[in-house]
Amino acid sequence: TELFQPERPNSEGFDLTDRPTLARIDAARAPFRAHVWQAGPVLAVAAPAGESEETRNPARPSDIVGHVTWASAETVQAAAGAARVWEAPAADRSAALNRAADLYEAEFGQIFALLAREAGKTQADAVAELREAVDFLRYYAARAEGAPPRGIFTCISPWNFPLAIFTGQIAAALAAGNAVLAKPAEQTPLIAHLAVTLLHQAGVPRSALQLLPGAGEVGAALCAQPDVAGVAFTGSTETAQIIHRTMADHLAPGTPLIAETGGLNAMIVDSTALPEQAVKAILESAFQSAGQRCSALRCLYVQEDIAPHFTEMLMGAMAALRPADPWHLPSDLGPVIDAEARTGILDHIAQARSEGRLLKTLDLPDEGHFVAPTLIRLPGIAALEREIFGPVLHLCTFPARDLDAVIDAINARGYGLTFGLQTRIDDRVQHVTERVHAGNIYVNRNQIGAIVGSQPFGGEGLSGTGPKAGGPLYVDRFRASPAPVAPG
Ligand code: NAD
Ligand code: ALA
Repeated sequence: TELFQPERPNSEGFDLTDRPTLARIDAARAPFRAHVWQAGPVLAVAAPAGESEETRNPARPSDIVGHVTWASAETVQAAAGAARVWEAPAADRSAALNRAADLYEAEFGQIFALLAREAGKTQADAVAELREAVDFLRYYAARAEGAPPRGIFTCISPWNFPLAIFTGQIAAALAAGNAVLAKPAEQTPLIAHLAVTLLHQAGVPRSALQLLPGAGEVGAALCAQPDVAGVAFTGSTETAQIIHRTMADHLAPGTPLIAETGGLNAMIVDSTALPEQAVKAILESAFQSAGQRCSALRCLYVQEDIAPHFTEMLMGAMAALRPADPWHLPSDLGPVIDAEARTGILDHIAQARSEGRLLKTLDLPDEGHFVAPTLIRLPGIAALEREIFGPVLHLCTFPARDLDAVIDAINARGYGLTFGLQTRIDDRVQHVTERVHAGNIYVNRNQIGAIVGSQPFGGEGLSGTGPKAGGPLYVDRFRASPAPVAPG
């Protein structure tokens, strides 16, 4: 059979096992070790801004990373009034987005420094994030040609992929020729500010891309501007539901909401699975990025015949993980994003401890918003009250005869983002993958890190509206629908 060939290669990234590459990264990051960045609204028109605030490093809260000035209600109105669709031909838009990709790659030192100090990303995560951002730019640039833009798009993004998701939404909207009002997460305005600076440098006009840093109120105001023709949102399911109501109250009927939201992601390991492969996949899926991925594994189902031995292996492997300041290469996982996130996760762990369900946790650095990789026993996914957005894995066991009941329980939660299966039985792969409801299903590997262009990413049900990011249908959702063809 013919091998699948992507239409264009993805970015090369950096090989972190290669010493000269590591030295190159260190040299490029060094000037930004103690740098203090400045960020604020970036507009096509003068307008009064709001309050200013310091931002701090989640791994070392004594480290001031930058100062940000927030957008105000007046800033939002002025930006909406100054927004203009990007009239340039598709080839010019495409060229500008490709130039932006080159600029992102050239700025890797500053970007890695910001990803570590503002967002708590390990070097491995920072490399993956820069690659994904660059891939989004080039992939959507290649799809600039098509039906006209819708108009003004509000793009609202989360802190956990402060460069890649922020860039991906904007790049798709711009590729189609829309004007973008971009609101990054309040936890990561500095990276967003740098990204917008590079996009402008690459030739995107200010009237086509404006930055409005702020908290939820700024996002809500941006979803209520009467001229907004569409909203792209990535974040929690609860916020997506609020945005949906805001849009219904303020925007024209039928205004699209592209929402990519949370998940209660499961993996099933049966008794035929290769244990070493499964343990490696579980560690990556549950604990990489300190579990702060929408795709992360939350609920692991292990067939009960192998559970005692398998759980021992898993806990042994967990013991080797090193939570530490992500600036340093030996860190396997960085902090969670802030004190509030940490408190919420620790409350969940404390509850499990008080109920005798805590199986494993680790020691932590003294400073910073760290949460130890933790394993908690659970009777089943139905008992997991919410998405725990951190390095906490829940372990359930099941008898072989209950496989279908396990899948039904997973589906019954209503989410459908990622799902993992570890088995060596081919018929089972087919049976399970046909039955489970999830946007991205991974077999005998980890369940994070979808690759732009090869693994379009997105969920169903409570996990998102579609279309999948990094897939061939995504940019089209940012265009006006083609006029219906008259019958006859
Ligand atoms: P969040 O929902 O709290 O915030 C996301 C964004 O929405 C932020 O910019 C925030 O300021 C803004 N916002 C908050 N209230 C708003 C309102 N009323 N109106 C408009 N905007 C508002 O999510 P988060 O904590 O930043 O991110 C973590 C969540 O994102 C998790 O649930 C995770 O699963 C999800 N996520 C999903 C994907 C995906 O592709 N499916 C990717 C990354 C993260
Ligand atoms: N696209 C990211 C992943 O697949 C969220 O992990």
